[in-house]
Amino acid sequence: MGKDVIIACDFASKADCLNFLDKFTGKKPFVKIGMELFYAEGPEIVRELKARGHKIFLDLKLHDIPNTVKKSMNVLSRLDVDMTNLHAAGTISMMEAALEGLTRPDGTRPLLIAVTQLTSTDQERMEKDLLIKEPIDKVVMHYASNAAKAGLDGVVCSPLEAGKVHETCGKSFLTVTPGVRFADGDIGDQKRVMTPAEAKKIGSDYIVVGRPITAAEDPVAAYERCVAEFVD
Ligand code: C5P
Repeated sequence: MGKDVIIACDFASKADCLNFLDKFTGKKPFVKIGMELFYAEGPEIVRELKARGHKIFLDLKLHDIPNTVKKSMNVLSRLDVDMTNLHAAGTISMMEAALEGLTRPDGTRPLLIAVTQLTSTDQERMEKDLLIKEPIDKVVMHYASNAAKAGLDGVVCSPLEAGKVHETCGKSFLTVTPGVRFADGDIGDQKRVMTPAEAKKIGSDYIVVGRPITAAEDPVAAYERCVAEFVD
């Protein structure tokens, strides 16, 4: 899989999601299904979008003991998603167990990506709540290296960190980056943002774009603008 734009389908129900995707006549964008939609609709929503021909990033951010994560990943592997994720904070053993669980009997598996530190966690919260005293950039790079050591395919990170992640973990280690906004768009609650063109320049492999597409007056045009800036 090469560079691509992933639409964050942050909808509360299958009806809202399908209503949105029906606008894309003839196009099958790569979509992200998060906890909200998955918990509302269950695995059926994944099967339905797969049957409609979409690639799927299942964003459930697993974090538990290695055995539980391994068995849960095994269930997800049968859903035929293209990409899924977990928290690197679960340790290298948990990530290795996840990879084992995710690998199908024929040796194939979805891409497995790690969340390092959530962007909602800042230096102060990390120090006070988590008792991690190192600089957050160092923690993010350390967690990314752990993910690479465990054999994962990449990390979710800010587009601003994508260059450094590639320097630390290698060019082929994937960077999946949310926090993307058009130059003339509303940034909403995202703090550190980049345009699709800037994300391309810095070397992001996939951009995850939600509201700039889902809340646009013309979502298909907004998606095409992302593709034109980031992929073409
Ligand atoms: O609407 P917006 O473009 O901000 O959506 C970005 C998507 O990426 C959302 O689904 C959000 O939960 C997700 N995300 C993020 N920042 C992270 C990890 C995931 O914005 N660090």
